[in-house]
Amino acid sequence: LDDPAADPFAVAADAAADIARLTGVERHDIALTLGSGWGRAAELIGETVATVPATEVAGFSAPALAGHVGSLRSILTPSGRRVLVIGARTHYYEGHGVRRVVHSVRTAAATGATIMVLTNGAGGIRETWAPGQPVLISDHINLTADSPLEGATFIDLTDLYSSRLRAIAREVDPTLDEGVYTQFRGPHYETPAEVQMAKAIGGHIVGMSTALEAIAARQAGMEILGFSLITNLAAGIQKTPLSHEEVLEAGRTAEPVISDLLARVIGRL
Ligand code: 6GU
Repeated sequence: LDDPAADPFAVAADAAADIARLTGVERHDIALTLGSGWGRAAELIGETVATVPATEVAGFSAPALAGHVGSLRSILTPSGRRVLVIGARTHYYEGHGVRRVVHSVRTAAATGATIMVLTNGAGGIRETWAPGQPVLISDHINLTADSPLEGATFIDLTDLYSSRLRAIAREVDPTLDEGVYTQFRGPHYETPAEVQMAKAIGGHIVGMSTALEAIAARQAGMEILGFSLITNLAAGIQKTPLSHEEVLEAGRTAEPVISDLLARVIGRL
């Protein structure tokens, strides 16, 4: 993937073949990327058929951060759907390039998945939101100044976060709020001024993932559902300084509730 002459879609096809061989599952229907706080959802979705270390799959690199598990799991839901759970996210801030960031999404598409569920832990801009609250992503603003598309690939991003899938999520939990996700490069959190900028341009959630992945998923023709766990309010909205520990702790506390929500939503997709 680091070789500019390599075809990232060919590497994704190789990765999908690795997954089929290592899991014994030829095709998947749904893919799910687990962000911080969402890790326990996998157990609730169905029966784990196989777990594969990401390092054994073409194009995947070892996890860079504690709390991000580097494995891929094949799950069979009670309704017979095959779910590929991606616990090996590469973040843009790791600096390995956008091809690596979206490789798991392209691999998911190559396994046959037609629905991409993206989850993350993120900061909230709305003062009415509280840490531990899950929100649906309704749209995004990509502030990375990058794109997973290469060359003159002009694709439409209307209804990127499927209103059909969001409606299903709201049937499961009618109290779910939704908001616009703003992807910053990170890895530092935003300044209070940057948070005010995000708010002024229509953002409600600040984070360091998801938007680039959603663009790649749309390019691959997948339907997308996005969830943010609000782990903290963004800088300047929250009066205390932000810490990664606090983010992980909010994730741990909220995990049982949001995992149950996610499993029930996936059961209806
Ligand atoms: Cl406040 N900002 C960003 N970019 N990512 C976060 C966050 C804030 N809180 C959790 N993840």
